[in-house]
Amino acid sequence: MIAQGLDRLLAGLGLRRRPVALRPARSGDAPALAVLHAAAFRIGWDAAEFDRLLANRLTRCLVAADGPGGAPIGFILLSGVVPETEILSVAVSGARRGEGIGRRLLDTAFGTLAAEGFRTVFLEVEEGNRPALRLYERAGFHEIGRRPGYYRGPAGEPVAAIAMRRDIA
Ligand SMILES: CC(C)(COP(=O)(O)OP(=O)(O)OC[C@H]1O[C@@H](n2cnc3c(N)ncnc32)[C@H](O)[C@@H]1OP(=O)(O)O)[C@@H](O)C(=O)NCCC(=O)NCCS
Repeated sequence: MIAQGLDRLLAGLGLRRRPVALRPARSGDAPALAVLHAAAFRIGWDAAEFDRLLANRLTRCLVAADGPGGAPIGFILLSGVVPETEILSVAVSGARRGEGIGRRLLDTAFGTLAAEGFRTVFLEVEEGNRPALRLYERAGFHEIGRRPGYYRGPAGEPVAAIAMRRDIA
C-alpha cells in the first residue's frame, strides 16, 4: 500500500514512469482519444467521431495507458473485414514518443487480428512523416504505391500519400 502510494507520487513528479499497459478501447475513451488525435494531427477527430468509430463493428482499437487503469497515452485504430484491415490512425502522446509504445501497439494489435483471421494490413502515410515511416518500415511494412497530392501540408501544399502493406499471417 505504502509502496504503491510512493510509486504514484514519484510518477506524478515525473521521476518514475509507470509501465505502459495495453488494452482494448472502451466507449468512455472517446474524449481522451480525441485529445490525443488532435495533438498529433493537423485535422483532429472529435469525441463524437471516436464514439462513432468505437461503436462500429468493423473497428478495432487498442489503447496504451499510463499504467493499469491510467490515462490513455496512445492508440491504434483499424478497420476492415477479414482477411484485410487498414490502419485508420495511430498516435502516441508527444511526451511519450520514442519509448517503443507505437511499435508495441502495432505488434499487439496485429497478434490479436491474426488470431481473428486477418491476414493483411494496409495503411497510408504522408510522405515526409519520418517517425511514422520509420515505425512502419521497422514493423515490416513495404511501400505498394503513391498518391501524389493526396494530403495538404501545413501551408496547403500538396503532399503525397505512401500506401504500405504488411502480411500478418
Ligand atoms: C508515429 C508515432 C505513432 C510513433 O510512435 P512512437 O511510440 O514514438 O514509436 P516507437 O517509439 O515505437 O518507435 C518506432 C520506430 O520509429 C523510430 N522513431 C520514433 N520517433 C522517431 C523520430 N522522431 N524520428 C525518426 N525515427 C523515429 C524509433 O526510433 C523506432 O525505430 P527503431 O526501432 O529503429 O528504434 C508517433 O511519432 C506519433 O504519434 N506521431 C504523430 C501521429 C502520426 O504521425 N501517426 C502516424 C500517421 S500515419
